[in-house]
Amino acid sequence: MKLTVDAHLCSGHGRCYTLVPELFTTDDEGFCEQRGQVIDVPTGQEEKGQLGIDCCPEGAIRLADDDA
Ligand code: F3S
Repeated sequence: MKLTVDAHLCSGHGRCYTLVPELFTTDDEGFCEQRGQVIDVPTGQEEKGQLGIDCCPEGAIRLADDDA
């Protein structure tokens, strides 16, 4: 499972790194540090990946294209 964090949609709600700190971290301004990156979700952590997708109110966190 791979996720992307849309750099433009992320507006710093912070739910991702609060609820799923295993996959997401914050930068100095409160945005998701993984903005604009592909996150390779470790095997066994798919539920956390899905929680990341579900928790972002901006819909910034999505499955990467090759996983859709
Ligand atoms: Fe950004 Fe959504 Fe997380 S707006 S900080 S990716 S909850």
